[in-house]
Amino acid sequence: MDREDHQKHPRPVKDSVVEMTEVVLPNDANNLGTMFGGKVMLLIDVAGAIAARRHSRRMVVTASVDSMSFHTSIKVGELVVLLASVNRAFNTSLEVGVKVFSENTSTGTRQHTASAYLTFVAIEDNGKPTGIVPVIAETDEQKRRYKEAGKRREVRQSGVPWV
Ligand SMILES: CC(C)(COP(=O)(O)OP(=O)(O)OC[C@H]1O[C@@H](n2cnc3c(N)ncnc32)[C@H](O)[C@@H]1OP(=O)(O)O)[C@@H](O)C(=O)NCCC(=O)NCCS
Repeated sequence: MDREDHQKHPRPVKDSVVEMTEVVLPNDANNLGTMFGGKVMLLIDVAGAIAARRHSRRMVVTASVDSMSFHTSIKVGELVVLLASVNRAFNTSLEVGVKVFSENTSTGTRQHTASAYLTFVAIEDNGKPTGIVPVIAETDEQKRRYKEAGKRREVRQSGVPWV
């Protein structure tokens, strides 16, 4: 298959799943020794963009990030683990869900730190949005995310602010 063919065929969610792991270094942290929220957000954007690009096989830009909160902090020396997958593709945009965990390497314990939904838009060389192939949701969880992504898109398009 050439590049054109890759941009025509629907792709299962599993083809674009991303797992990204980094160790939290002192430079990433505030005076309390926990990771800056902004650094976590950067990693979320990067993991999301990789999933979006893997699915679309096109250049993508971040169009929006739904509201997000941090449930727990991530300490220096711990790992930050990000799982990202495409929930649903629409016309030229797609929604990626990213889950962030802290991992204590002494105990192996993982704690859920944050979740985010990002919308990426595929663009051509001229900067104009271009079509994205559909996503095939295979598992029950993927089907649930696919359905819920449709509802979130309606909320986004309604212009009602996230709370
Ligand atoms: C995202 C961008 C390409 C959309 O361009 P546009 O001319 O508004 O495009 P359209 O109105 O034709 O919409 C294209 C798609 O983007 C989606 N979209 C546009 N703005 C959106 C937003 N704020 N949130 C979610 N989706 C959005 C539309 O729903 C549409 O999706 P669909 O084709 O799947 O139905 C354009 O706004 C842009 O380039 N923004 C800057 C992106 C960037 O630089 N990001 C990095 C962060 S600084």
